[in-house]
Amino acid sequence: MNAKSDARETLQKLWQPGCDFLGSEVAVLGGAMSWVSERNLVSAISNAGGFGVIACGAMSPERLEEEIVATQALTKRPFGVNLITMHPDLERLVDVCLAHKVTHVILAGGVPSSAIIRRVRDGGARAVGFAPALALGKRLVKMGIEALVIEGSEAGGHVGPVSLTVLAQEILPHLRDVPIFVAGGLGRGDAVVSYLEQGAAGAQLGTVFAASQESIAHENFKKSFLRANARDAVTSVQLDEQFPVIPVRGLSNAGTRQFLKHQAETIRRFQNGELNKEDAQLSIEHFWAGSLRRAVIDGDVENGSVMAGQSVGMVKEIRPVSEIIAGLVEQAVEAIEKREQRIHVS
Ligand SMILES: Cc1cc2nc3c(=O)[nH]c(=O)nc-3n(C[C@H](O)[C@H](O)[C@H](O)COP(=O)(O)O)c2cc1C
Repeated sequence: MNAKSDARETLQKLWQPGCDFLGSEVAVLGGAMSWVSERNLVSAISNAGGFGVIACGAMSPERLEEEIVATQALTKRPFGVNLITMHPDLERLVDVCLAHKVTHVILAGGVPSSAIIRRVRDGGARAVGFAPALALGKRLVKMGIEALVIEGSEAGGHVGPVSLTVLAQEILPHLRDVPIFVAGGLGRGDAVVSYLEQGAAGAQLGTVFAASQESIAHENFKKSFLRANARDAVTSVQLDEQFPVIPVRGLSNAGTRQFLKHQAETIRRFQNGELNKEDAQLSIEHFWAGSLRRAVIDGDVENGSVMAGQSVGMVKEIRPVSEIIAGLVEQAVEAIEKREQRIHVS
């Protein structure tokens, strides 16, 4: 056996638990992205050997059903559905997934109840959760969650405060009971390998897939990814702690600048007594309503919300999903091979 095939074998061993859990060839999940992760992208990721995930977002159960059926028509491989736990119809959404034999349900956007985890598992699907800290990860496992995603603040979309570098050190050595997938800021296979070696079972990537050929995101959205550097993907800024702003990472544009002005103006109106606290908070929360769709579907990347992770700086061209996944695998294999060479030279 030569060094490359040894390295390939090592990679396979490292992410085998992730592949076994997902039922995929490579332990790479396409992170759910509202408006972006629909039938075309999800099936392309699964068909390329990865694991696609539909973003349910605010979809109704009927709309989700349509998307699942359409995705199943495009791939025979497993894929998941990401459900937001505060969705008012969460139980019906789970039932739709189960009725259509979706293999994995990813419960995002808050701590899921034990009852909903049980509903997923009793219906025959695997239940996946998000762990923003070690204590919560342990609690979720006790509640019956079968795998975890740990997502660092480098990620695109709604983010927590801690980087993946730190989360991985906090969680991976101490939680060995379930497969853990790392997310946030990943753009290369070398980085994925470093987390596999720390004990991760696989990786979840979003930004690099949003800019793929199969992604239905508007051309303007993809072009803004090609132009952007890591430092352009910033988190939303909160002006006053009395009026909390949920941190979302995206490309800075006229919309993000306008959001600051809107907050300042709203706070001024609250201080003048023109608005009560509740209305002021709602006005700030509603600023971005519909804005991800505006950027992804309509292509208004100046005023819409162009959610992107810091990995956006590594997006240099619009490529087919299969090429992106093959590239990640090659980089991972090469990283292992080079590491072996370094060890044997010294
Ligand atoms: C445009 C966009 C939309 C996203 N929407 C969601 C979502 O609806 N639900 C969710 O759990 N995560 C969402 N995410 C996070 C991704 O699933 C994934 O974890 C993240 O993109 C990983 O970090 P990366 O972008 O650096 O690869 C979104 C990310 C992006 C870039």
